[in-house]
Amino acid sequence: MKIANSIIKGLPVFAFDEIDTMFNSLKAKGITPIDFGIGDPKDPTPSFIREAAKRSIDENAGRGYPIYNGTKEYRFAVSQWIKKRFSVDIDPDKEICTAIGAKELIFNLSNAFVEPEDYIIMPNPGYPPYLKGALFSRAIPYFLDLKKENNFLPDLDSIPKDVIKKTKILWLNYPNNPTAGTATIDFLKRAVEFCNKNNIVVINDECYSEIYYENEFKPHSILEVSKKGVLSINSMSKRSLMTGWRIAWVAGDNELIDTIKKLKTNIDSGPPYFVQDAAITALKDEVHVEENRKRLKQRRDVLVEAFTSVGFEDCTPRGTFYIWQKLPDGVKGIDLCKKLLEPEYGIVVTPGSFLTETINNKNIGDNYLRMALVPSIEECKVAAKKIAEAVKKL
Ligand SMILES: Cc1ncc(COP(=O)(O)O)c(C=O)c1O
Repeated sequence: MKIANSIIKGLPVFAFDEIDTMFNSLKAKGITPIDFGIGDPKDPTPSFIREAAKRSIDENAGRGYPIYNGTKEYRFAVSQWIKKRFSVDIDPDKEICTAIGAKELIFNLSNAFVEPEDYIIMPNPGYPPYLKGALFSRAIPYFLDLKKENNFLPDLDSIPKDVIKKTKILWLNYPNNPTAGTATIDFLKRAVEFCNKNNIVVINDECYSEIYYENEFKPHSILEVSKKGVLSINSMSKRSLMTGWRIAWVAGDNELIDTIKKLKTNIDSGPPYFVQDAAITALKDEVHVEENRKRLKQRRDVLVEAFTSVGFEDCTPRGTFYIWQKLPDGVKGIDLCKKLLEPEYGIVVTPGSFLTETINNKNIGDNYLRMALVPSIEECKVAAKKIAEAVKKL
């Protein structure tokens, strides 16, 4: 039976087909590509976190459905972590709601706040569920370009007045996927002021808050500015190498959190108890987080050097585990991506244009590619050499 609603039918088909075909033909030749494509860490979840989960499975045998918005213990651990990391007081009962990963939360959140035809403002490039959530709640997306010359911060003054009037949500994402930009506290203050003045909910997706390299760019939380009209989303996925576990949270304005709780009790039944218990254990430890940062920094430095050594612009990431590499004028991300997929190189990267919207026939990602720093340092060193060779043959 072929049946799909108009929103699903209207979703763009991804241009990954050609890349997929090249990827599969490499595999058919027995070549295992070095994969910088998807931002899913290959390093295992630390053993002390896995052990905590194992203990919890037995302790919670027969406990049934989890509590909708997370156990008291989990919400308390989150509030303690926020206090320690950002010096912000959060009431675990009123100002936190648990989620089954940030992805579902981001997708579903618009349903809590918008009416059809309202605007949702979001970054371009942006993590896809900001847009897909907007479309499924029949809101209208309005994109703000993130450009290198503005340190990948959006220009809030460029938003037309009639759009502002009908906007319910402003999505921010710092540290930013894919540009690797971070936000200054001054920018976050301006964003909160702008949204408070215009009755807009401002949400910062802070899923990469613990992935940074220099203390100078240690990320801020938007909660440091205010809780009024403000939400911060964070996740265990990247901080504690727990992408497969599915656990996150949203914290901030208690009235907004109330609305989200109401929405979520109608969608799911919360993350399993053993996942919440594993997260509590993970949140109490910073050593594994620091070790992860060290591994990522080694990979970052090897790959940035590969690009700068062939004369490409220095695009050293400030946060996240992505490199958003600007290519020389005239070189398109898709062309370098295809070159790197040839059998003598066997490297997977994402063309920038796959992550950006085409607006008025212009795609600001055409001239970029994204690499997720997920392969091992040994693989990064091999890839660095091959990238330098491939670039010479462009
Ligand atoms: C910006 C951003 N937000 C959220 C997520 C999803 O996080 P989670 O694993 O908690 O669903 C990702 C995953 O890559 C991301 O890049």
